[in-house]
Amino acid sequence: MGLKTTISPDSSFDKIINTKTSPPLHINSPMLESLALSKLFKEENAKVWMKVDALQPSGSFKIRGVGLLCNQLLKEKKSKNEEAHFICSSGGNAGKSVAYAGRKLNVKTTIVLPNTIPEATIEKIKDEGANVIVHGTIWDEANTFALELAEKEGCTDCYIHPFDHPLLWEGHSTMIDEIYQDVQNGVCEKPDVILFSVGGGGMMIGILQGLDRYGWNDIPIVTVETVGSHSFWKSFQEKQLTKLDVSEVTSVIKTLSTRSVCSEAWEISKRFNIKPILVTDRDAVDACLKFVDDERILVEPSCGATLSVLYSKKLSTLLDINSKNILTIVCGGNGTSILQLNDLLQTLPK
Ligand SMILES: Cc1ncc(COP(=O)(O)O)c(C=O)c1O
Repeated sequence: MGLKTTISPDSSFDKIINTKTSPPLHINSPMLESLALSKLFKEENAKVWMKVDALQPSGSFKIRGVGLLCNQLLKEKKSKNEEAHFICSSGGNAGKSVAYAGRKLNVKTTIVLPNTIPEATIEKIKDEGANVIVHGTIWDEANTFALELAEKEGCTDCYIHPFDHPLLWEGHSTMIDEIYQDVQNGVCEKPDVILFSVGGGGMMIGILQGLDRYGWNDIPIVTVETVGSHSFWKSFQEKQLTKLDVSEVTSVIKTLSTRSVCSEAWEISKRFNIKPILVTDRDAVDACLKFVDDERILVEPSCGATLSVLYSKKLSTLLDINSKNILTIVCGGNGTSILQLNDLLQTLPK
């Protein structure tokens, strides 16, 4: 493979890297082959590549978009000589990223979380210096509260949605800029299929926008959700953007549990070859435990959901005969520990 070092001039990577006054808050994450996962696809002669966003300083891919948005909001506030106060509702990881951004940019942050978020996650967000408010049982309720709070505090212009904002998507799309650059530099081959988890759909939009930027719309996409957080899967079945009933949001994986993906996620998905897959909470938790043994990386079940598709070899039936390079986004997550995963496994049905 030829060694080229340039990337497309209008890539988000360029735009962000060139913003000298506000450097990105995320890192370029490594692209690594997982020998343990590749071994499972020996028969297909395929390699499994991991984009390891679990190594981001906030613990997940979220900081890509959150960092870009927070930098921009701060710039706007400074230009008006006003003080910024970031308010964010979150299932955990967006909140951690906003709190991290607040600490790095020296901005006050308030994170609103539903009461199902583990105490350890709350503690990690507080450690970043954020105020934490616990409200509601699902993210949608925490979000309504965060919006009301932003209104009351007069800082609706600093409210940060965890997945529905164009700058979040642009920030997340840097993942694809890096992957494109890795392909150009011969680190890996162009992926034949990309797998990732879907919650509210922010990461999906970023990834698809990034693929669009490089004319990579031909790459088949596998989106993964759990039963009980299956809003994109259901929209796909019903061929229209669909909202889950509150009683349908039963997954224990709170970072994926939104009643609906955002409308842009639904719109952009129509232009790609997407296969939505559902796994169980147990599959996702099991995959996290296997993955920490295989790759020494601890991820949340929201990320484990996607890994479970590889461990179960469910993907084999979907693979094209020519699919030799499988790419999985190891999106990370803070809200877990090996003890918690083992405890969860005891409670989840077999
Ligand atoms: C670790 C992790 N993976 C995946 C997702 C899903 O991302 P999105 O809501 O952008 O679809 C989330 C959402 O919080 C997350 O925290």
